[in-house]
Amino acid sequence: MGKETLTITDNRTGKTYEIPIQNDTIKALDLRQIKVKPEEFGMMTYDPAFMNTASCKSKITFIDGDKGILRYRGYPIEQLAEKSTYVETAYLLIHGELPTKEQLDDWTFQINHHTIIHENIKKFMDGFHYDANPMGMLVGTVGALSTFYKDAKEIHDPENRKKQIYRLIGKMITLSAFAFRHSKGMPYAYPDNELSYPGNFLNMLWKMTESKFKPHPVLERALDVLFILHADHEQNCSTSAMRGVGSSHVDPFSAVAAAAAALYGPLHGGANAEVLYMLDEIGSKENIPAFIKNVKEGKGKLMGFGHRVYKNFDPRAKIIKKLAEDVFAVTGRNPKLDIAMELERIALKDEYFIQRKLYANVDFYSGLIYQAMDFPIDMFPVLFAIGRTSGWIAQWQEMLTDPEQKIARPRQVYLGYESRDYQSLEERSKVAVKSAV
Ligand code: CMC
Repeated sequence: MGKETLTITDNRTGKTYEIPIQNDTIKALDLRQIKVKPEEFGMMTYDPAFMNTASCKSKITFIDGDKGILRYRGYPIEQLAEKSTYVETAYLLIHGELPTKEQLDDWTFQINHHTIIHENIKKFMDGFHYDANPMGMLVGTVGALSTFYKDAKEIHDPENRKKQIYRLIGKMITLSAFAFRHSKGMPYAYPDNELSYPGNFLNMLWKMTESKFKPHPVLERALDVLFILHADHEQNCSTSAMRGVGSSHVDPFSAVAAAAAALYGPLHGGANAEVLYMLDEIGSKENIPAFIKNVKEGKGKLMGFGHRVYKNFDPRAKIIKKLAEDVFAVTGRNPKLDIAMELERIALKDEYFIQRKLYANVDFYSGLIYQAMDFPIDMFPVLFAIGRTSGWIAQWQEMLTDPEQKIARPRQVYLGYESRDYQSLEERSKVAVKSAV
Protein backbone atom coordinates (compact mmCIF):
# COMPACT_ATOMS: atom_id res chain seq x y z
CA MET A 1 0.00 0.00 0.00
CA GLY A 2 1.22 3.52 -0.82
CA LYS A 3 1.59 6.46 1.51
CA GLU A 4 -1.40 7.64 3.56
CA THR A 5 -1.35 11.07 1.95
CA LEU A 6 -3.11 12.98 -0.77
CA THR A 7 -1.17 15.10 -3.24
CA ILE A 8 -2.99 18.11 -4.59
CA THR A 9 -1.76 20.28 -7.44
CA ASP A 10 -3.14 23.80 -7.60
CA ASN A 11 -3.26 24.54 -11.32
CA ARG A 12 -3.53 28.26 -10.62
CA THR A 13 -0.03 28.32 -9.19
CA GLY A 14 1.47 24.97 -10.19
CA LYS A 15 2.23 24.27 -6.51
CA THR A 16 1.67 20.84 -5.03
CA TYR A 17 0.66 20.04 -1.48
CA GLU A 18 0.86 16.75 0.39
CA ILE A 19 -1.97 16.29 2.84
CA PRO A 20 -2.20 13.48 5.43
CA ILE A 21 -5.07 11.00 5.18
CA GLN A 22 -6.50 9.55 8.38
CA ASN A 23 -9.53 7.21 8.45
CA ASP A 24 -10.08 7.87 4.71
CA THR A 25 -10.49 11.54 5.56
CA ILE A 26 -8.48 14.70 5.10
CA LYS A 27 -8.67 17.60 7.52
CA ALA A 28 -10.42 20.57 5.95
CA LEU A 29 -8.01 22.87 7.79
CA ASP A 30 -5.08 21.29 5.92
CA LEU A 31 -6.49 22.90 2.77
CA ARG A 32 -6.09 26.37 4.23
CA GLN A 33 -2.42 26.47 3.16
CA ILE A 34 -3.54 26.37 -0.50
CA LYS A 35 -3.61 29.96 -1.72
CA VAL A 36 -2.54 32.04 -4.70
CA LYS A 37 -1.41 35.11 -2.72
CA PRO A 38 -0.08 34.97 0.86
CA GLU A 39 -2.71 37.45 2.12
CA GLU A 40 -5.60 35.24 0.94
CA PHE A 41 -7.71 33.33 3.48
CA GLY A 42 -6.92 29.97 1.88
CA MET A 43 -8.89 27.10 0.37
CA MET A 44 -12.11 25.84 1.97
CA THR A 45 -14.52 23.08 0.99
CA TYR A 46 -18.09 23.89 -0.04
CA ASP A 47 -20.54 21.30 1.23
CA PRO A 48 -24.15 22.47 1.64
CA ALA A 49 -26.20 20.03 3.75
CA PHE A 50 -22.94 18.32 4.82
CA MET A 51 -23.27 15.70 2.11
CA ASN A 52 -19.64 14.63 2.42
CA THR A 53 -18.27 16.23 5.55
CA ALA A 54 -17.58 14.44 8.83
CA SER A 55 -18.21 16.90 11.65
CA CYS A 56 -16.97 14.60 14.40
CA LYS A 57 -15.32 11.32 15.28
CA SER A 58 -17.80 9.02 16.98
CA LYS A 59 -17.88 5.58 18.62
CA ILE A 60 -21.63 5.39 19.06
CA THR A 61 -23.52 4.30 15.93
CA PHE A 62 -22.35 2.60 12.76
CA ILE A 63 -24.37 2.57 9.55
CA ASP A 64 -23.42 0.86 6.29
CA GLY A 65 -26.06 2.09 3.90
CA ASP A 66 -25.14 -0.25 1.05
CA LYS A 67 -25.30 -3.36 3.19
CA GLY A 68 -28.28 -2.24 5.31
CA ILE A 69 -26.32 -2.39 8.58
CA LEU A 70 -27.16 -0.41 11.73
CA ARG A 71 -25.24 -1.03 14.97
CA TYR A 72 -25.24 0.73 18.32
CA ARG A 73 -21.81 0.49 19.99
CA GLY A 74 -21.13 -2.50 17.74
CA TYR A 75 -24.34 -4.42 18.55
CA PRO A 76 -26.59 -5.15 15.52
CA ILE A 77 -29.96 -3.44 15.74
CA GLU A 78 -31.68 -6.77 15.06
CA GLN A 79 -30.22 -8.29 18.26
CA LEU A 80 -31.05 -5.26 20.38
CA ALA A 81 -34.62 -5.15 19.04
CA GLU A 82 -35.04 -8.85 19.85
CA LYS A 83 -33.27 -9.09 23.20
CA SER A 84 -32.81 -5.68 24.81
CA THR A 85 -35.11 -3.05 26.27
CA TYR A 86 -35.11 0.66 25.50
CA VAL A 87 -33.81 1.53 28.96
CA GLU A 88 -30.93 -0.94 28.60
CA THR A 89 -30.18 0.30 25.06
CA ALA A 90 -30.14 3.88 26.34
CA TYR A 91 -27.53 2.82 28.91
CA LEU A 92 -25.49 1.19 26.15
CA LEU A 93 -25.61 4.27 23.93
CA ILE A 94 -24.67 6.65 26.71
CA HIS A 95 -22.08 4.55 28.56
CA GLY A 96 -20.64 2.55 25.66
CA GLU A 97 -21.18 -0.90 27.22
CA LEU A 98 -24.19 -3.01 28.16
CA PRO A 99 -24.84 -2.72 31.92
CA THR A 100 -24.31 -5.41 34.56
CA LYS A 101 -27.40 -6.43 36.52
CA GLU A 102 -26.53 -3.96 39.30
CA GLN A 103 -25.85 -1.14 36.87
CA LEU A 104 -29.11 -1.79 35.05
CA ASP A 105 -31.11 -1.90 38.28
CA ASP A 106 -29.64 1.39 39.42
CA TRP A 107 -30.10 3.02 35.97
CA THR A 108 -33.73 1.87 35.79
CA PHE A 109 -34.40 3.04 39.36
CA GLN A 110 -32.91 6.46 38.68
CA ILE A 111 -34.85 6.97 35.45
CA ASN A 112 -38.10 5.81 37.06
CA HIS A 113 -37.58 8.13 40.00
CA HIS A 114 -37.08 11.15 37.79
CA THR A 115 -40.32 10.83 35.84
CA ILE A 116 -42.26 13.26 38.06
CA ILE A 117 -42.32 16.84 36.81
CA HIS A 118 -42.61 20.04 38.83
CA GLU A 119 -46.26 21.02 39.27
CA ASN A 120 -45.55 24.38 37.62
CA ILE A 121 -44.82 22.57 34.35
CA LYS A 122 -48.49 21.61 34.33
CA LYS A 123 -49.29 25.33 34.25
CA PHE A 124 -47.16 25.65 31.13
CA MET A 125 -49.14 22.80 29.59
CA ASP A 126 -52.41 24.40 30.57
CA GLY A 127 -51.32 27.61 28.88
CA PHE A 128 -51.25 25.94 25.46
CA HIS A 129 -54.26 26.29 23.21
CA TYR A 130 -56.67 23.33 23.25
CA ASP A 131 -55.59 22.23 19.77
CA ALA A 132 -51.84 22.87 20.21
CA ASN A 133 -49.60 20.36 18.47
CA PRO A 134 -48.14 17.96 21.09
CA MET A 135 -44.69 18.14 19.50
CA GLY A 136 -44.74 21.94 19.83
CA MET A 137 -45.72 21.50 23.48
CA LEU A 138 -42.88 19.03 24.02
CA VAL A 139 -40.32 21.37 22.43
CA GLY A 140 -41.50 24.22 24.65
CA THR A 141 -41.72 22.33 27.93
CA VAL A 142 -38.49 20.35 27.63
CA GLY A 143 -36.67 23.64 27.04
CA ALA A 144 -38.51 25.15 30.02
CA LEU A 145 -37.05 22.43 32.28
CA SER A 146 -33.74 24.28 32.15
CA THR A 147 -35.33 27.04 34.25
CA PHE A 148 -36.27 24.48 36.92
CA TYR A 149 -32.84 22.82 37.13
CA LYS A 150 -30.36 25.64 37.26
CA ASP A 151 -27.56 23.23 38.15
CA ALA A 152 -27.94 21.76 34.65
CA LYS A 153 -25.53 24.35 33.32
CA GLU A 154 -22.67 22.57 35.13
CA ILE A 155 -22.11 20.52 32.00
CA HIS A 156 -18.42 19.82 32.65
CA ASP A 157 -19.16 17.99 35.91
CA PRO A 158 -19.78 14.30 35.05
CA GLU A 159 -21.82 13.68 38.24
CA ASN A 160 -24.05 16.62 37.46
CA ARG A 161 -24.48 15.46 33.86
CA LYS A 162 -25.64 12.09 35.16
CA LYS A 163 -28.44 13.73 37.14
CA GLN A 164 -29.63 15.72 34.12
CA ILE A 165 -29.54 12.56 32.00
CA TYR A 166 -31.83 10.70 34.45
CA ARG A 167 -34.12 13.72 34.44
CA LEU A 168 -34.22 14.03 30.68
CA ILE A 169 -34.90 10.37 29.92
CA GLY A 170 -37.36 10.08 32.82
CA LYS A 171 -39.32 13.24 32.11
CA MET A 172 -39.58 12.88 28.33
CA ILE A 173 -42.39 10.33 28.68
CA THR A 174 -44.18 12.46 31.27
CA LEU A 175 -44.02 15.65 29.19
CA SER A 176 -45.09 13.75 26.07
CA ALA A 177 -48.03 12.07 27.80
CA PHE A 178 -49.11 15.34 29.44
CA ALA A 179 -48.99 17.09 26.06
CA PHE A 180 -51.20 14.34 24.65
CA ARG A 181 -53.70 14.50 27.54
CA HIS A 182 -53.85 18.28 27.27
CA SER A 183 -54.68 18.06 23.57
CA LYS A 184 -57.48 15.62 24.43
CA GLY A 185 -58.78 17.70 27.33
CA MET A 186 -58.08 14.79 29.68
CA PRO A 187 -56.76 15.14 33.26
CA TYR A 188 -53.05 14.40 33.59
CA ALA A 189 -52.14 10.92 34.84
CA TYR A 190 -49.06 10.66 37.05
CA PRO A 191 -46.22 8.20 36.55
CA ASP A 192 -46.38 4.74 38.07
CA ASN A 193 -42.81 3.75 38.80
CA GLU A 194 -43.61 0.07 39.18
CA LEU A 195 -44.20 -0.15 35.45
CA SER A 196 -41.59 -0.49 32.72
CA TYR A 197 -40.54 2.64 30.82
CA PRO A 198 -42.94 2.08 27.87
CA GLY A 199 -45.59 0.67 30.25
CA ASN A 200 -45.39 3.81 32.37
CA PHE A 201 -45.75 5.93 29.24
CA LEU A 202 -48.86 3.97 28.19
CA ASN A 203 -50.18 4.42 31.73
CA MET A 204 -49.80 8.19 31.57
CA LEU A 205 -51.45 8.25 28.15
CA TRP A 206 -54.43 6.02 28.69
CA LYS A 207 -55.16 5.65 32.41
CA MET A 208 -58.74 6.56 33.24
CA THR A 209 -60.39 5.91 36.62
CA GLU A 210 -58.84 2.51 37.36
CA SER A 211 -56.54 2.48 40.39
CA LYS A 212 -53.80 0.59 38.56
CA PHE A 213 -53.24 0.70 34.80
CA LYS A 214 -52.14 -2.57 33.20
CA PRO A 215 -50.46 -2.07 29.83
CA HIS A 216 -51.07 -4.75 27.20
CA PRO A 217 -47.77 -6.70 27.12
CA VAL A 218 -47.66 -6.89 23.30
CA LEU A 219 -48.23 -3.15 22.87
CA GLU A 220 -45.80 -2.37 25.69
CA ARG A 221 -43.11 -4.47 24.02
CA ALA A 222 -43.90 -3.02 20.57
CA LEU A 223 -43.41 0.50 21.89
CA ASP A 224 -40.17 -0.55 23.58
CA VAL A 225 -38.86 -1.96 20.27
CA LEU A 226 -39.92 1.20 18.40
CA PHE A 227 -38.02 3.31 20.95
CA ILE A 228 -34.93 1.07 20.44
CA LEU A 229 -35.15 1.41 16.64
CA HIS A 230 -35.33 5.19 16.87
CA ALA A 231 -32.72 5.62 19.63
CA ASP A 232 -29.85 6.79 17.44
CA HIS A 233 -28.95 7.23 13.81
CA GLU A 234 -25.56 8.94 13.87
CA GLN A 235 -25.28 12.51 12.56
CA ASN A 236 -28.85 13.13 11.35
CA CYS A 237 -30.49 16.56 11.36
CA SER A 238 -31.70 16.60 15.00
CA THR A 239 -28.51 15.02 16.35
CA SER A 240 -26.44 17.60 14.50
CA ALA A 241 -28.69 20.24 16.08
CA MET A 242 -28.02 18.70 19.51
CA ARG A 243 -24.28 18.72 18.97
CA GLY A 244 -24.26 22.16 17.34
CA VAL A 245 -26.37 23.86 20.01
CA GLY A 246 -24.68 21.88 22.80
CA SER A 247 -21.29 23.05 21.53
CA SER A 248 -22.13 26.52 22.88
CA HIS A 249 -22.10 24.81 26.32
CA VAL A 250 -25.76 25.52 26.97
CA ASP A 251 -27.57 23.17 29.41
CA PRO A 252 -28.84 19.84 27.99
CA PHE A 253 -32.55 20.72 28.34
CA SER A 254 -32.12 23.66 25.98
CA ALA A 255 -30.04 21.55 23.60
CA VAL A 256 -32.69 18.78 23.58
CA ALA A 257 -35.36 21.40 22.86
CA ALA A 258 -33.32 22.45 19.80
CA ALA A 259 -32.88 18.84 18.69
CA ALA A 260 -36.60 18.16 19.14
CA ALA A 261 -37.39 21.28 17.11
CA ALA A 262 -35.26 19.88 14.28
CA LEU A 263 -37.15 16.60 14.54
CA TYR A 264 -40.48 18.46 14.30
CA GLY A 265 -39.88 19.14 10.58
CA PRO A 266 -41.72 17.00 7.99
CA LEU A 267 -38.48 15.96 6.31
CA HIS A 268 -37.21 14.39 9.51
CA GLY A 269 -39.70 13.26 12.16
CA GLY A 270 -42.81 13.78 10.06
CA ALA A 271 -42.37 11.32 7.19
CA ASN A 272 -44.45 8.50 8.72
CA ALA A 273 -47.42 10.84 8.97
CA GLU A 274 -46.95 11.63 5.26
CA VAL A 275 -47.14 7.88 4.54
CA LEU A 276 -50.58 7.71 6.13
CA TYR A 277 -51.82 10.73 4.18
CA MET A 278 -50.50 9.09 1.01
CA LEU A 279 -52.25 5.77 1.76
CA ASP A 280 -55.48 7.68 2.37
CA GLU A 281 -55.04 9.47 -0.93
CA ILE A 282 -54.50 6.19 -2.80
CA GLY A 283 -57.63 4.82 -1.13
CA SER A 284 -57.63 1.29 -2.56
CA LYS A 285 -55.34 -1.24 -4.25
CA GLU A 286 -56.77 -0.60 -7.74
CA ASN A 287 -55.44 2.96 -7.61
CA ILE A 288 -51.84 1.92 -6.94
CA PRO A 289 -50.64 1.61 -10.58
CA ALA A 290 -51.93 5.12 -11.38
CA PHE A 291 -50.27 6.47 -8.23
CA ILE A 292 -46.92 4.83 -9.11
CA LYS A 293 -47.19 6.22 -12.64
CA ASN A 294 -47.60 9.74 -11.21
CA VAL A 295 -44.61 9.29 -8.92
CA LYS A 296 -42.47 8.16 -11.86
CA GLU A 297 -43.56 11.22 -13.80
CA GLY A 298 -42.28 13.37 -10.94
CA LYS A 299 -45.73 14.20 -9.56
CA GLY A 300 -45.04 13.57 -5.87
CA LYS A 301 -43.00 10.99 -4.02
CA LEU A 302 -43.62 7.54 -2.72
CA MET A 303 -43.41 8.53 0.96
CA GLY A 304 -41.62 6.09 3.26
CA PHE A 305 -39.36 5.07 0.39
CA GLY A 306 -35.74 6.00 -0.17
CA HIS A 307 -33.02 7.07 2.22
CA ARG A 308 -29.94 9.30 2.09
CA VAL A 309 -27.80 6.52 3.60
CA TYR A 310 -29.54 3.17 3.08
CA LYS A 311 -29.27 2.12 -0.55
CA ASN A 312 -30.15 -1.54 -0.17
CA PHE A 313 -32.65 -1.84 2.64
CA ASP A 314 -33.38 -0.08 5.90
CA PRO A 315 -32.81 -2.74 8.61
CA ARG A 316 -35.30 -0.94 10.87
CA ALA A 317 -38.05 -1.34 8.25
CA LYS A 318 -37.61 -5.15 8.28
CA ILE A 319 -38.04 -5.30 12.06
CA ILE A 320 -41.02 -2.96 11.99
CA LYS A 321 -42.83 -4.98 9.32
CA LYS A 322 -42.68 -8.03 11.57
CA LEU A 323 -43.65 -5.97 14.62
CA ALA A 324 -46.72 -4.69 12.76
CA GLU A 325 -48.08 -8.25 12.58
CA ASP A 326 -47.74 -8.65 16.39
CA VAL A 327 -49.50 -5.35 17.03
CA PHE A 328 -52.30 -5.98 14.53
CA ALA A 329 -52.97 -9.37 16.15
CA VAL A 330 -54.01 -7.35 19.23
CA THR A 331 -55.49 -4.17 17.78
CA GLY A 332 -56.98 -5.59 14.61
CA ARG A 333 -55.47 -5.05 11.20
CA ASN A 334 -54.99 -1.49 10.06
CA PRO A 335 -56.99 -1.45 6.81
CA LYS A 336 -54.23 0.59 5.17
CA LEU A 337 -51.76 -2.27 5.64
CA ASP A 338 -52.97 -4.12 2.53
CA ILE A 339 -52.51 -1.03 0.39
CA ALA A 340 -49.05 -0.47 1.89
CA MET A 341 -47.94 -4.06 1.25
CA GLU A 342 -49.21 -4.04 -2.31
CA LEU A 343 -47.56 -0.65 -2.90
CA GLU A 344 -44.25 -1.99 -1.63
CA ARG A 345 -44.57 -5.17 -3.74
CA ILE A 346 -45.23 -3.21 -6.93
CA ALA A 347 -42.53 -0.60 -6.26
CA LEU A 348 -39.85 -3.20 -5.52
CA LYS A 349 -40.41 -4.77 -8.97
CA ASP A 350 -40.42 -1.45 -10.81
CA GLU A 351 -37.30 -0.36 -12.74
CA TYR A 352 -37.66 3.26 -11.56
CA PHE A 353 -37.26 2.25 -7.91
CA ILE A 354 -34.73 -0.52 -8.60
CA GLN A 355 -32.42 1.80 -10.56
CA ARG A 356 -32.53 4.50 -7.88
CA LYS A 357 -32.12 1.97 -5.05
CA LEU A 358 -35.33 3.05 -3.36
CA TYR A 359 -36.62 0.73 -0.64
CA ALA A 360 -39.13 1.01 2.20
CA ASN A 361 -37.59 2.94 5.09
CA VAL A 362 -38.41 2.96 8.82
CA ASP A 363 -41.35 5.27 8.26
CA PHE A 364 -43.20 3.13 5.74
CA TYR A 365 -44.75 0.84 8.38
CA SER A 366 -44.22 2.67 11.70
CA GLY A 367 -47.14 5.08 11.19
CA LEU A 368 -49.49 2.16 10.58
CA ILE A 369 -48.48 0.65 13.92
CA TYR A 370 -48.86 3.93 15.79
CA GLN A 371 -52.27 4.48 14.25
CA ALA A 372 -53.39 0.96 15.16
CA MET A 373 -52.27 1.74 18.73
CA ASP A 374 -54.62 4.76 18.68
CA PHE A 375 -51.98 7.46 18.50
CA PRO A 376 -53.13 10.54 16.60
CA ILE A 377 -50.81 11.53 13.74
CA ASP A 378 -49.61 14.63 15.63
CA MET A 379 -48.08 12.34 18.24
CA PHE A 380 -45.80 10.49 15.80
CA PRO A 381 -42.84 12.90 16.07
CA VAL A 382 -43.27 12.91 19.85
CA LEU A 383 -42.82 9.12 19.92
CA PHE A 384 -39.73 9.50 17.76
CA ALA A 385 -38.35 12.16 20.13
CA ILE A 386 -38.77 9.94 23.21
CA GLY A 387 -36.65 7.21 21.63
CA ARG A 388 -34.10 9.58 20.11
CA THR A 389 -33.45 11.37 23.44
CA SER A 390 -30.91 8.71 24.52
CA GLY A 391 -29.05 9.09 21.22
CA TRP A 392 -29.03 12.88 21.50
CA ILE A 393 -27.62 12.63 25.02
CA ALA A 394 -24.96 10.08 24.04
CA GLN A 395 -23.83 12.27 21.13
CA TRP A 396 -23.92 15.43 23.25
CA GLN A 397 -21.75 13.85 25.94
CA GLU A 398 -19.32 12.49 23.36
CA MET A 399 -19.03 15.98 21.86
CA LEU A 400 -18.44 17.61 25.26
CA THR A 401 -15.67 15.19 26.20
CA ASP A 402 -13.94 15.27 22.80
CA PRO A 403 -10.86 17.53 23.06
CA GLU A 404 -11.01 18.19 19.31
CA GLN A 405 -14.49 19.75 19.50
CA LYS A 406 -15.16 23.47 19.82
CA ILE A 407 -18.17 25.70 19.35
CA ALA A 408 -19.71 24.78 15.98
CA ARG A 409 -19.20 27.57 13.50
CA PRO A 410 -19.24 26.76 9.77
CA ARG A 411 -17.70 29.02 7.15
CA GLN A 412 -19.49 30.50 4.15
CA VAL A 413 -18.70 31.45 0.57
CA TYR A 414 -19.61 35.13 0.51
CA LEU A 415 -21.08 36.19 -2.86
CA GLY A 416 -22.72 39.45 -1.80
CA TYR A 417 -21.81 43.10 -2.39
CA GLU A 418 -18.35 44.53 -1.86
CA SER A 419 -18.23 47.48 0.52
CA ARG A 420 -20.67 50.30 -0.42
CA ASP A 421 -21.73 53.55 1.24
CA TYR A 422 -24.96 54.06 3.11
CA GLN A 423 -27.46 56.31 1.28
CA SER A 424 -30.04 58.42 3.01
CA LEU A 425 -33.73 57.65 2.52
CA GLU A 426 -34.03 60.68 0.20
CA GLU A 427 -31.15 59.51 -2.00
CA ARG A 428 -32.59 56.02 -2.19
CA SER A 429 -36.02 57.43 -3.11
CA LYS A 430 -34.43 59.38 -5.99
CA VAL A 431 -32.84 56.19 -7.31
CA ALA A 432 -36.16 54.32 -7.02
CA VAL A 433 -38.00 57.08 -8.96
CA LYS A 434 -35.32 57.07 -11.67
CA SER A 435 -35.43 53.29 -12.14
CA ALA A 436 -39.25 53.34 -12.23
CA VAL A 437 -39.19 55.88 -15.08
N1 CMC B 1 -40.28 8.48 -4.34
C1 CMC B 1 -39.95 8.69 -5.64
N2 CMC B 1 -38.73 9.02 -6.08
C2 CMC B 1 -37.78 9.16 -5.14
C3 CMC B 1 -38.05 8.98 -3.78
C4 CMC B 1 -39.34 8.63 -3.39
N3 CMC B 1 -39.65 8.42 -2.10
N4 CMC B 1 -36.91 9.19 -3.07
C5 CMC B 1 -35.98 9.52 -3.98
N5 CMC B 1 -36.51 9.50 -5.22
C6 CMC B 1 -35.79 9.73 -6.49
C7 CMC B 1 -35.43 11.21 -6.64
O1 CMC B 1 -36.47 11.90 -7.31
C8 CMC B 1 -34.17 11.10 -7.44
O2 CMC B 1 -34.53 10.79 -8.77
P1 CMC B 1 -33.68 11.40 -10.01
O3 CMC B 1 -32.30 10.79 -9.87
O4 CMC B 1 -34.42 10.95 -11.21
O5 CMC B 1 -33.67 12.89 -9.82
C9 CMC B 1 -33.47 9.87 -6.88
O6 CMC B 1 -34.54 9.04 -6.38
C10 CMC B 1 -32.48 10.18 -5.77
O7 CMC B 1 -33.17 10.86 -4.72
P2 CMC B 1 -32.59 12.04 -3.85
O8 CMC B 1 -33.69 13.02 -3.57
O9 CMC B 1 -31.32 12.56 -4.46
O10 CMC B 1 -32.19 11.28 -2.53
P3 CMC B 1 -31.84 11.95 -1.13
O11 CMC B 1 -30.82 11.08 -0.51
O12 CMC B 1 -31.52 13.38 -1.27
O13 CMC B 1 -33.23 11.85 -0.34
C11 CMC B 1 -34.97 11.08 1.02
C12 CMC B 1 -33.52 10.88 0.58
C13 CMC B 1 -35.27 10.15 2.20
C14 CMC B 1 -35.19 12.54 1.52
C15 CMC B 1 -35.90 10.79 -0.17
O14 CMC B 1 -35.72 9.47 -0.59
C16 CMC B 1 -37.36 11.06 0.17
O15 CMC B 1 -37.81 12.20 0.07
N6 CMC B 1 -38.12 10.00 0.57
C17 CMC B 1 -39.50 10.19 0.96
C18 CMC B 1 -39.58 10.78 2.37
C19 CMC B 1 -39.24 9.77 3.42
O16 CMC B 1 -39.71 8.64 3.42
N7 CMC B 1 -38.43 10.21 4.41
C20 CMC B 1 -38.04 9.38 5.55
C21 CMC B 1 -36.59 9.04 5.52
S1 CMC B 1 -36.17 7.81 6.74
C22 CMC B 1 -36.26 8.66 8.25
C23 CMC B 1 -34.94 8.87 8.93
O17 CMC B 1 -34.04 8.00 8.87
O18 CMC B 1 -34.76 9.95 9.54
